Amino acid sequence: MKVRFDYSKAKEFIDEKALEAMKKRAEAAKKVLLDGSGAGADFRGWIDLPVDYDKEEFARIEKAAAKIREDSDVLFVIGIGGSYLGARAANEFLNHNFYNKLSKEERKAPEIYYAGNSISGTYLAELLEILGDRDFSVNVISKSGTTTEPAIAFRVFKELAEKKYGKEGAAKRIYATTDKARGALKTLADGEGYECFVVPDDVGGRYSVLTAVGLLPIAATGADIRGLMKGAADMREHCMNAPVDENDAMLYAACRDLFYENGKGVEILVNYEPNFHYVSEWWKQLYGESEGKDHKSLFPAAVDFTTDLHSMGQFIQQGTPLHFETVVDVEESRKCVVVGSDESNLDGLNYLAGRDMNYVNHCAMNGTILAHKEGGVPNLVVRVKDQSAEALGQLFYFFEFACGVSGYTVGINPFDQPGVELYKRNMFGLLGKPGYESLTEDLRKRL
Ligand code: PA5
Repeated sequence: MKVRFDYSKAKEFIDEKALEAMKKRAEAAKKVLLDGSGAGADFRGWIDLPVDYDKEEFARIEKAAAKIREDSDVLFVIGIGGSYLGARAANEFLNHNFYNKLSKEERKAPEIYYAGNSISGTYLAELLEILGDRDFSVNVISKSGTTTEPAIAFRVFKELAEKKYGKEGAAKRIYATTDKARGALKTLADGEGYECFVVPDDVGGRYSVLTAVGLLPIAATGADIRGLMKGAADMREHCMNAPVDENDAMLYAACRDLFYENGKGVEILVNYEPNFHYVSEWWKQLYGESEGKDHKSLFPAAVDFTTDLHSMGQFIQQGTPLHFETVVDVEESRKCVVVGSDESNLDGLNYLAGRDMNYVNHCAMNGTILAHKEGGVPNLVVRVKDQSAEALGQLFYFFEFACGVSGYTVGINPFDQPGVELYKRNMFGLLGKPGYESLTEDLRKRL
């Protein structure tokens, strides 16, 4: 496997007997997950996705991605939350750190920008500025079609596309990923003749990266979506069949739940590769939205090391001991920079001359794990062989499976999100949205 879980660095914080008991609970939770007897069972479509997906749609995704690469200088990916983070995570992790800055010949794909993931007018206006008069396509992704952020952004890009290409021309450049039959976006897309891709009914947003939600924008960069699916299928096989003691996702779920039950309140996902940042953002949504309910569960936080060692390192080492860390170790670096020798050696770095930066980065990682352990912070490690699509497919599935198991272990429904509605109700009341006017006056008074 390209993804493995290692808790050997946390053994001194783990009572073996308690872990054995937690493994048994994880096995019971896995059974509930797989037999569909738990809450939210209708949203388990992601479990079989890597081996049971719509092949006809997959071929259309590859075709649409090839067309976008051919006819567009820029692709705008419009979506938020689960309809955005998986694609961005993959695109950042699998591609060049400065992807948009490469020439089109080097990239062989359009620049990619994300919109509809905030309500900032400044962001959107400045995004339009950098487009200039270049050719573009749009992939609007929204299950409901009514989510405020992407809906506002899509209005802007639809108008722009129609102005530039005419209604018919625009329709050939707008791709809608939405419900297969219902909703505002589906109705609009059918009316305008946009090519449609499906957000399956049984896959929640945060588990949807291996559906068209993630696959089209990932394929548009030229990334290997077949490798991504293969990696996920391999990890699925492992998660389903490996006995608990050899089952990486099960052991990860058991360890994190044990720390939670022993009083930890925060799990910090740590990485040492800058383009892992959005995988952490995806992971935060996966665990935060899946587990944060009934006043329970670990708060999922993330840091980018060594950058954040110079800001958050102090707290992690010596602050209130709320947390444990899950360190993602990308073992093989994609590129190599060797430290040179300098005659004056004023910075004292000649002892590193001839060393690859990846070696230095790993020494920083291992030194930090030891230091944080000494500070009383348990460190779990997830080893990721390389930055290939296959490894990322395994990692996505590893975290999803562990999340389902962990959710049922702590006794919540890992597939709903009842708590995200209240702010929307208030925002709509304050905006005076039809149907919410009765709330407006009271909300304004309470401000
Ligand atoms: O995971 C989720 O359910 C959410 O993050 C949604 O994906 C997000 O709110 C976007 O919803 P929609 O796809 O309906 O626009």
